[in-house]
Amino acid sequence: MAGKRTFTMIKPDAMEAGNAGAIIKMIQEAGFKISAMKMTKLSEETAGQFYAVHKERPFYKDLTTYMSSGPIIAMILEKDNAVEDFRKLIGATNPADAAEGTIRKLFAKSIEANAVHGSDADDTALNEGNFFFAKTEQF
Ligand code: CMP
Repeated sequence: MAGKRTFTMIKPDAMEAGNAGAIIKMIQEAGFKISAMKMTKLSEETAGQFYAVHKERPFYKDLTTYMSSGPIIAMILEKDNAVEDFRKLIGATNPADAAEGTIRKLFAKSIEANAVHGSDADDTALNEGNFFFAKTEQF
């Protein structure tokens, strides 16, 4: 059975552009409940830990530099079929490939500065949520 939770970050490009409010509104209007939320700034080291799965990829260093370049908003989101439905709402990783009306099509600047992160599976959603939030911060 598909899980009820996913994890997202509003990335530095979308924060800097002042698009956080519009993105959160789209998320809520799509039926997601916000179970946890915080604004924070990652260090390069913490960004590296979060994206450790991409350690061997050529874009890893740029990604961790970019993700620690400004504040982000982290959220745990709840909805039936959360991971898949959220990935549909945000669109493809590369905004050039993202469907019309998706968050990345509307707000992303590039494949790296792509406005939002979305978990790719139920187990990663759990791990990523727990990476940012103590149990007492998850509602
Ligand atoms: P995200 O969904 O957060 O997961 C990994 C991130 O790496 C991705 O979004 C992009 O921000 C970034 N990235 C940069 N270059 C690439 C690439 N060529 N392929 C996939 N992800 C990339």
